[in-house]
Amino acid sequence: MTRGTSGRRLTTEAIRAMKGRGEAIVMITAYDFSTAQVAERAGVDIVLVGDSAAMVVLGYETTRLVTIEEMLMLAGAVRRGAPLSLVIGDLPYRSYEGSNELAVATSRRFVQAGCDAVKMEGANATVDRAQAVIAAGIPVMGHVGLTPQHTGDGEGFRVHGRTAAAALQIISDARALDGAGCFAIVAEAMPAVVARALTPRVRAPVIGIGAGPDTDGQVLVFHDLVGLYDEHVPRYVKRYAELKAVMIDAVGRYASDVRGHQFPQPEHEYRMEAGEEEKLAARLSS
Ligand code: KIV
Repeated sequence: MTRGTSGRRLTTEAIRAMKGRGEAIVMITAYDFSTAQVAERAGVDIVLVGDSAAMVVLGYETTRLVTIEEMLMLAGAVRRGAPLSLVIGDLPYRSYEGSNELAVATSRRFVQAGCDAVKMEGANATVDRAQAVIAAGIPVMGHVGLTPQHTGDGEGFRVHGRTAAAALQIISDARALDGAGCFAIVAEAMPAVVARALTPRVRAPVIGIGAGPDTDGQVLVFHDLVGLYDEHVPRYVKRYAELKAVMIDAVGRYASDVRGHQFPQPEHEYRMEAGEEEKLAARLSS
C-alpha cells in the first residue's frame, strides 16, 4: 500500500516491497515548502531534496557548490511541505566522502532536519560510507552511472556505460551498494540496455533517470518536469508543463496592471471598522 492510500508515511521497507510486487516507484525532487506540497498532493512515493537545488534553485554552475547548510534549510522546508512523504536528503559534495565518521555526522544532521534517509553518489569509498551510515540506523540510497558531484565538473553531463566494460563497472558498483544495504539505487544517464541488465541483478529498487523504461521506478528533477529550468534540458526529460512561460506571462500582466493603475482593485483593499473612517477624517482635518 503506498503512502497516498494508507495516510501514513511510506517507509524504505515499503519501497523495497514495491520492487517485489513489480509496482513502479515514483520519485521527484523538491526543494521548498510549496514544491514539496505539490509532490505530496500529486501522490509521489519519494521526495528527494536533490543537490540539483544548487543549479535549479540557487543558480550555481554545478552541484558541487551547494553547502550543507543550504541543503539543510531546503530539507526542513520540504519536510514541512510533505509531512507524509518519504523524504531523502542528498548529501552534498565533500560532506561525506572524507571518512565514515563524517558521513554519519552529516547524515544525522539531515535526519534532524526532517529527512527519512540520505542519498550519496558513487561507489568505491562510498560503499564504506553507506555501510557506516546504515549501521548508524539511517537508510541510504545509492547513486550510480552519471554522478554529477564526481563527474560533472570535468566531463560535463555525459552518458555513462556506453561500452561493455563501463556497463559492467556500473553493475558492479550497484551490486556493491546493494551489498552494503542501500534501500534503493538511482541509476543516472546510461543506455536503457544497461539499466535493464542492472535492475534484476540487485535486490534494491533501481530508480532511473535517463536510464530507459526497465528500472523499478523513475525520478525527474521538479523544475525540469514542470518547465521551470531551461539552462540545460537533458534528452531524457519529459516536460509536463511550461510553468516558466506561464509565470513570465503572469508577472508581466501584473507589471502592466500596476503601470496602468489597474491593480489593486477595491476587492484587494482592507477596510477600516464601521464609522472609523469618518472619525479619522475629522481628526485629520481639525
Ligand atoms: O540531485 C538530484 O536531483 C539527483 C537526481 C538527479 C537523482 O540526484
